[in-house]
Amino acid sequence: MAISPWVERANRVLMKNVGRLPVVFSHGTGAKLYDVNGREYLDFLSGIAVHAVGHSHPAVVAALKKQAEKIIHVSNFFCLEEQILLAEKLTALSGLERVFFANSGAEANEAAIKLARKYGQTRLGGKYEIITAYHSFHGRTMGALAATGQPKYQEAFRPLPAGFRYAHFNDLASWEAAITPQTCAVLIELVQGEGGVVPIDPDFFHGLAALCRRHGLLLMVDEVQTGLGRTGKVFAWEHLGIKPDIMTLAKALGGGLPLGAMLAKEEVAAVFEPGDHSTTVGGGGMAFAAALAILQIMVEEDLPGRAAHLGAELKAEFQSWQQELPVIKEVRGWGLLLALELAIPAQPVMRSCLEQGLIVNAVSPTALRLAPPLNIDEDELKRGLAILKQALATAAE
Ligand SMILES: Cc1ncc(COP(=O)(O)O)c(C=O)c1O
Repeated sequence: MAISPWVERANRVLMKNVGRLPVVFSHGTGAKLYDVNGREYLDFLSGIAVHAVGHSHPAVVAALKKQAEKIIHVSNFFCLEEQILLAEKLTALSGLERVFFANSGAEANEAAIKLARKYGQTRLGGKYEIITAYHSFHGRTMGALAATGQPKYQEAFRPLPAGFRYAHFNDLASWEAAITPQTCAVLIELVQGEGGVVPIDPDFFHGLAALCRRHGLLLMVDEVQTGLGRTGKVFAWEHLGIKPDIMTLAKALGGGLPLGAMLAKEEVAAVFEPGDHSTTVGGGGMAFAAALAILQIMVEEDLPGRAAHLGAELKAEFQSWQQELPVIKEVRGWGLLLALELAIPAQPVMRSCLEQGLIVNAVSPTALRLAPPLNIDEDELKRGLAILKQALATAAE
């Protein structure tokens, strides 16, 4: 693979806080990306589940151009029309009555944590503890990091905010045991994305919701990675038939513009009073305009339905590969958020795909994650699958 001088320049000036691959991109369209050497790639990761409608969708670009010339930011002493329109759309889609806009998934979760704490303080006699899952991922800010049940992300940054307890995903007894007289809420992903694309067991989730009702705990769902069509429904909780008290969104909502949202039921949101929580930009006009365009495409083109349909086809295809490629130990995920659990290390397969022009991600040492745009062209999907199959066959030799 030809390495561009841009890679060396990046290595000189950017902090080494993430493990970057030696590719610098110049532009993209739909599921295709082009590096600075003009090489084409198929993007089966979508900027980590961000580009539900693909790169630089013409409707999103047009909305951004229009918004840039119209208005970008006012202080949060005021509102923008686009902010109100977006809040109306999200509340109508979810049935949750109130929205707070943030700049990222981590910030949306920080807002959820604060809302749960205030609810605990004012409605539950001072309760403050939140239970989250081992192997969860809720973001890198200190509160969200404390909520993230993975010591590898936490160790270097202790002490973390107190008041978090952890329980095992899909193991109800463990959540029951984690409840104390101080517990006010649980926070959970419905498919653990960064934890390896591990879907929730519906019976476990129903049991958890019943546990929350019995103990008067808030049920908070982190849909930052799963939300807005990715799993085959607009929100992953629709698969399970239980509406959470609080839900967080980001990633696909802004489609690459910095935007997160925390939604809550009216009676829960009611505990926030002026001055309790805020952020200067909180998405802003450009992000709201992008989100409105993305939601319109999502609804008009039934992208959740497309994710369900293509996801089922992909799963069946991968399962059919297992005969000739026994290195694929398991195929899991919902909709177009899928993982292949391998009997071999995932990194070399990911690198070999990259060399052949396909972007996938080694989400764990032995699992590959796939999250292509929900509107990906079927021919592109086939082309990408051929690259992946060849890379797996070569790696298994
Ligand atoms: C489920 C989940 N929650 C929160 C986050 C954090 O979002 P952000 O990176 O936008 O802060 C992520 C990011 O991967 C995520 O997958």
